[in-house]
Amino acid sequence: MAKQKYEIGIVGLGVMGRNLVLNIADHGYSVSGYDIDLSKVQELQTEAGSHAVNAAQSLEEFVSVLTTPRAIMMLVPAGRVVDNVIHDLIPLLESGDLIIDAGNSHFKDTNLRSKTLAEKGILYMGVGISGGEEGARHGPSLMPGGPQDAYERVRPIFEAVAAQVAGVPCVAYLGPGSAGHYVKMVHNGIEYGLMQLIAESYDLMKRGLGLSNDELSVVYGNWNETELNAYLVEITAHIFREVDEQTGKRLLDMVLDEAGQKGTGMWTSQDAMDMQIPTPVIDAAVVARNLSALKSERNIASGKFKVQTSYFEGNKKAFLSQLKGAIHASMIITYAQGMAQLGIASKVHGYNINLGDVARIWRGGCIIRAALLEEIQTAFHTQPNLSNLLNNDHLSQVVISKQEDLRTVVSLGVKLGLPVPCLMASLAYFDSYRSDWLPANLIQAQRDEFGAHTYERVDARGTFHTNWEQD
Ligand code: 6PG
Repeated sequence: MAKQKYEIGIVGLGVMGRNLVLNIADHGYSVSGYDIDLSKVQELQTEAGSHAVNAAQSLEEFVSVLTTPRAIMMLVPAGRVVDNVIHDLIPLLESGDLIIDAGNSHFKDTNLRSKTLAEKGILYMGVGISGGEEGARHGPSLMPGGPQDAYERVRPIFEAVAAQVAGVPCVAYLGPGSAGHYVKMVHNGIEYGLMQLIAESYDLMKRGLGLSNDELSVVYGNWNETELNAYLVEITAHIFREVDEQTGKRLLDMVLDEAGQKGTGMWTSQDAMDMQIPTPVIDAAVVARNLSALKSERNIASGKFKVQTSYFEGNKKAFLSQLKGAIHASMIITYAQGMAQLGIASKVHGYNINLGDVARIWRGGCIIRAALLEEIQTAFHTQPNLSNLLNNDHLSQVVISKQEDLRTVVSLGVKLGLPVPCLMASLAYFDSYRSDWLPANLIQAQRDEFGAHTYERVDARGTFHTNWEQD
């Protein structure tokens, strides 16, 4: 009897991998799964039930049961593990087989791996997956990049398993090479910015206004019912209510205030810096996490630099409305920076990314899904070559209408001595971007005076150098 063949394989059966196997199987595709840790293979076997799932006991068995040309998806930690899996797979594969890296790999690694594997006749795709464990099980946002013909082979499966918004799957082919991993990286950079903005609003309401956890939950719950509707706002509202089983206190108050990171936000900033694209909200969010990690130094400094803390004395209700406006404007500015980076990166790295598609596939399944993405998608639909979302009439009007809120909120943070780096970065970006004159003339003059770096003039073409008069 001929052995049953499976349409796709998944290597890496952590919760994400296992959930994706089950999601694929739910949609009628047969799938083989393997993990070097055989206890995870066993877990898959148990969870799979009557699904068309093969829980393979060895990599050889895993590969041998796949239909050819094979499609193998890796859901393993970024870095060395990806290379190890590829290394072990290569001798078992044939020309025309496809390996898909669905982890958060650095886009430069994806480029390198694509090139090396292409020389062996193996196709390689880098696919961003967002939505965590829940997304993997019930519908993630998928950000595929790589050879288009390779994508066409897995497209039916991807479209079936992705989150759906109004019947449209949250997946689109994004471009060649590492386009998918690049888009996922910027997704995470935006994620860092939005999370830090929400954290700053929490700080202003907790330490500034003295709101309780229950009150905070209500504020975020209310925001989520409005134009600020977003997955991150929604989960924030829930977080304030969670009770710690050990102490009976709110769990959030028992969580250490040191933020972790796996690097994707930092990579976003690094590549933006390499291309000289300003993304100050994302940069500030990365720095805020770095500063939070200096917990022991902060403990010492807090004793040394005691500041006269003052409490908010104005109208709390009015301030909460201004805070909402400030967060709304800052969120638009954060997406604007991420999208502007994608627009330039698309040209620099040759991806030819359709930014409207990116907004569309981020509307569901992913961590940064938000009502705002509908407006962002519309903006790119009407203006496909939009260089910055702040140049879209609708979004710019929203930011203009909220700018006073942002100024008031930043001022309060300054007055109370509460750090609001991402709110400040949003405002400074807006004020710089909308300014037809910046003091960069002085920077140029200084560069020319100390280093003869030359400058341009406002009234004549060419480059000029002056022997600046010394006193
Ligand atoms: C997602 C998330 C996911 C992961 C983050 C966490 O889109 O599902 O972004 O990929 O949870 O990468 O990143 P940090 O550990 O750097 O916060």
